[in-house]
Amino acid sequence: MADWLSSLFDTSDLYTMLIVAVLGLAAYWYMNQPDPRTSRKNDLRTLNGSATPNSRPNVYADEGFAARLKNEHRDILIIYGSQTGTAEELSGRLSKNFTRYGRKTLVLDPEEVEEDEWNKLAELDSHLLVLCMATYGEGDPTDNAQKFIEWIKTTDANLSKLKFAVFGLGNKTYEHYNEIGKICDRRLEELGAKRVIELGMGDDDANLEEDFCKWRDVFLPAAASSFGWELDPEAESARQYRLQLVETTPDRLYSGEFGRLNSHVKPRPPFDQKTPFFATIKVNRELHTEKSDRSCRHIEFDLGTSMIRYEAGDHLGVYPTNETVLVDKICSLLEFNPTQAFKLINLDEESNKKHPFPCPTTFRVALSHYVDISAPVKAHVLKAIAEFATDEEQKKKLILMSNSEGEGHTLFNDYVTRERRSIVDILSEFSSCKPPIDLVLELLPRLQVRYYSISSSPKAVDKSVHITAVVTQYKIGERQINGVCTTFLRHKAVGDTVPIFVRKSTMRMTYNDTQTVVMIGPGTGIAPFRGFIQERKALIDRGTVGGGKFALFFGCRHPDIDFIYKDELEQYKKDGVLSHLFTAFSREGPKKVYVQDKLVENEDLVYAAYQNGFVLVCGDAKNMARDVQQCLIKMIAKKESKSEEEAQTAFKTFEKSRRYLADVW
Ligand SMILES: Cc1cc2nc3c(=O)[nH]c(=O)nc-3n(C[C@H](O)[C@H](O)[C@H](O)COP(=O)(O)OP(=O)(O)OC[C@H]3O[C@@H](n4cnc5c(N)ncnc54)[C@H](O)[C@@H]3O)c2cc1C
Ligand SMILES: Cc1cc2nc3c(=O)[nH]c(=O)nc-3n(C[C@H](O)[C@H](O)[C@H](O)COP(=O)(O)O)c2cc1C
Repeated sequence: MADWLSSLFDTSDLYTMLIVAVLGLAAYWYMNQPDPRTSRKNDLRTLNGSATPNSRPNVYADEGFAARLKNEHRDILIIYGSQTGTAEELSGRLSKNFTRYGRKTLVLDPEEVEEDEWNKLAELDSHLLVLCMATYGEGDPTDNAQKFIEWIKTTDANLSKLKFAVFGLGNKTYEHYNEIGKICDRRLEELGAKRVIELGMGDDDANLEEDFCKWRDVFLPAAASSFGWELDPEAESARQYRLQLVETTPDRLYSGEFGRLNSHVKPRPPFDQKTPFFATIKVNRELHTEKSDRSCRHIEFDLGTSMIRYEAGDHLGVYPTNETVLVDKICSLLEFNPTQAFKLINLDEESNKKHPFPCPTTFRVALSHYVDISAPVKAHVLKAIAEFATDEEQKKKLILMSNSEGEGHTLFNDYVTRERRSIVDILSEFSSCKPPIDLVLELLPRLQVRYYSISSSPKAVDKSVHITAVVTQYKIGERQINGVCTTFLRHKAVGDTVPIFVRKSTMRMTYNDTQTVVMIGPGTGIAPFRGFIQERKALIDRGTVGGGKFALFFGCRHPDIDFIYKDELEQYKKDGVLSHLFTAFSREGPKKVYVQDKLVENEDLVYAAYQNGFVLVCGDAKNMARDVQQCLIKMIAKKESKSEEEAQTAFKTFEKSRRYLADVW
């Protein structure tokens, strides 16, 4: 102990003071921690204390969904499990559709509900429960539905007074097609609820929108007949939001934030999907050579003082901004003042969604940050804007294309879906159609976050996070189409900021000297593996890991065009961080070579990983991941003299042991 201290106090005094100080600091820290149950809701309040942007803070804590259904005379409860917004959007549309029967709904994000509150579903009487549930990963629920799915899988609540309908959102490319929709549908029946319509399943690989519309067109009349609701077609055309022009100072207007007003100028952790961190770009460089007709960007974000933590293998969420040229085009086509401030206010005053996006804001900000102006436009949007076309031919064609059957439907599929015509294309080509901008903003879906597999390790790069993104750009006829997020990222300069957050993934690496690791990542599929390789190097440098087999299978078109991170990877191989680096080039010689071919050539190594180690795959879900899986099954069959069926079962066991991991999209 320092002499000057011991001259002032005796030892026991000092210990007492130390304990008091530690306890005081702990109490201060504890009192300043956000309450995990309420922090998100509180973050959604504006500086002046009013509720923003979309939710009704604390509403469920105060009242609960069951009480609200009864007190507000709502007959239908719609719960959505959504990661990238599709299920949420379909739920909103269904809610609006029910107004044609004069019915009120409550649309619920299950994340907003306390766990023990789900039992209140058993108290509901003569209500209709609708679930719109997306499936992810290996038949997993979305983040916001995890607790609800856990509850529904394990509860023994008696739901016999409920009627129900389930629409699952999935993609046939994935093995566990619509697993969550199937589980919900089965469990609700087991719990005694009465099914109004067979489980609907949307396939995002084909035409999910069409699957949904077909299911809905049978479901709505079935529900109406089951409950004895009368049709009132006039009611549905009514607007959901009312426009209010606003005069206020710029600091009171949302300018692209997603949660708290001004959160980008006064950042406050914790940062998450609702409150992303505006990270500064440190590096944004091209990875393809000049010979490439495509572009792939290596981007480094500075995490600064954000306290954002991540692990190699996690995903980075990026909120994009729409291209200025597209926003300008809408402004000039529809002739309104883009700098006008406004609010869109829900006509259902009790709704928990007060505004469709953060309000008040300006028309330009809403078009740039909050609505999707690039995706193929939906049929119901064409129907709603058709009445504003002054040219009769144009009006007729818009109405025709909004039909869910026959000639109009075929035309819609060819002209809009296949040729990917957005609202900007439609308003340009149907130039007499000039709907009010607030209607367009009400109809368009929210602009969604894009995810990227993180391509760095926090153990190797200090306070920064890297991604590797191939730029989406293609031509249909004469129209050049640019991907929203990759175009946004491509044009960002060093020093610019981008709203980001980290999403945990299940892709994890085990580092040891005894097990064989095989990583298969063609193209941008290399992203998480770059993070794992960086991490292994850091561990080797510290002497934690020594030998062991750590192999990468990389594929691209040509070594001189798109062999991304070539120098880095070759150096890792030279230094022994990678024990093997296998490359497959599809456009180098007369014969196309893919990573699958290299797996076959190096079967013994891959088999060693299957027996005692890990096989990890990242990248294209549709073709590559499937082919790799088939390749592994064939290898098992050959090496163990098994039938194809037996090999498939063996592969399933391998997958279940979590030694086969896939991060595919
Ligand atoms: C978990 C996860 C991890 C991911 N990791 C990465 C990663 O590490 N690196 C990476 O680059 N991407 C990654 N992605 C994909 C990424 O999220 C975006 O989907 C991608 O960057 C395109 O976004 P965008 O906004 O630029 O394009 P969008 O505007 O969303 O356009 C993309 C859409 O355009 C359509 N399209 C594309 N090309 C054509 C064509 N030739 N003809 C017709 N239609 C076409 C497709 O429907 C496609 O879905 C990942 C996705 C997920 C879900
Ligand atoms: C990374 C990723 C994993 C997915 N995994 C599955 C899956 O295992 N099974 C399935 O049926 N669909 C799967 N899908 C498809 C989604 O469920 C589908 O695209 C859905 O429309 C998404 O809905 P959301 O936008 O509401 O989140 C996956 C999609 C992505 C991007």
